[in-house]
Amino acid sequence: MTTLQATFCGQTYDNPFMNASGVHCMTTAELDELANSAAGSFVTKSATADSREGNPEPRYINLALGSINSMGLPNLGLAYYLADAIKRQTETPDVPFIMSVASYKGFDEYVDNMRQIQDSDYTGLVELNLSCPNVPGKPQMAYDFEDTARLLIEIFSFYTKPFGVKLPPYFDIQHFDKIAAVLNQFDLKFVNCINSIGNGLYIDEATDTVVIKPKGGFGGIGGEYVKPTALANVRALKQRLNPSIEIIGTGGILTGRDAYEHLLCGASMLQVGTQLQKEGPAVFDRLNAELRHILETKGYTSIAEFKGKLATLD
Ligand code: DHB
Repeated sequence: MTTLQATFCGQTYDNPFMNASGVHCMTTAELDELANSAAGSFVTKSATADSREGNPEPRYINLALGSINSMGLPNLGLAYYLADAIKRQTETPDVPFIMSVASYKGFDEYVDNMRQIQDSDYTGLVELNLSCPNVPGKPQMAYDFEDTARLLIEIFSFYTKPFGVKLPPYFDIQHFDKIAAVLNQFDLKFVNCINSIGNGLYIDEATDTVVIKPKGGFGGIGGEYVKPTALANVRALKQRLNPSIEIIGTGGILTGRDAYEHLLCGASMLQVGTQLQKEGPAVFDRLNAELRHILETKGYTSIAEFKGKLATLD
């Protein structure tokens, strides 16, 4: 019997599939749809301290090979997601999920948000988003290795619950080395690679214009465009991080084959953004069926038999 069961941070899930934060996870109603879908788990929209409208529209456009977005952190505020999470934790303790936490204002807001969670009854996983590319005037935190280390030192001085970080893509071997050296200093439970490839530009062929309004058309790129970068980041960090730090693979998962490749690179859980936006939560039925078919064809009965076992040519 083939199983797609995934183990992650001490819990077992029916399968490794989740939404990627930002897609289908703004409201309790959307989160309920994910909880009732074929996804193994789910993650909430990145929360800021206060609720936000986000950037002007159009701010998310599907493209033939993916998507471009500059949402600007629209969300209902940390108090909303914390209340929702505590309710879920009480009512459906057997359905674990992840709370995503971001910051609009920078360093101090990250710390304040984590302090609120520490002081709350929520005990589940948190994904600290260090990689939102869409706040005008604010850099992606995890591209600044010193600031990232400083932030984690501050958070670990008071935070005692399990959490991980969502990273932007890196494109240089030295940067893989540097971010891993920073993260390995902390008792992080996981890293999520990758957020969108930040600040891409798409031009409409019919109009010769950009396609989203914020930031002159610059936005985060997802979908097919990003899979090789995502796989490289999952693989490179799996090779460098302490074995206790698990990996969530995100980026370019459209098919069971894409999911399989992320697992080969060492991912434990898999997040789907662009394709979930295009296809809706039924995408998880298809992905489960396609991944199961691959395991069966290759003679595997579980993910553990091939996870992280990508072969090289030397
Ligand atoms: C947004 C985009 C991201 O890629 C992210 O990590 C967080 C927020 C946004 O624009 O809302």
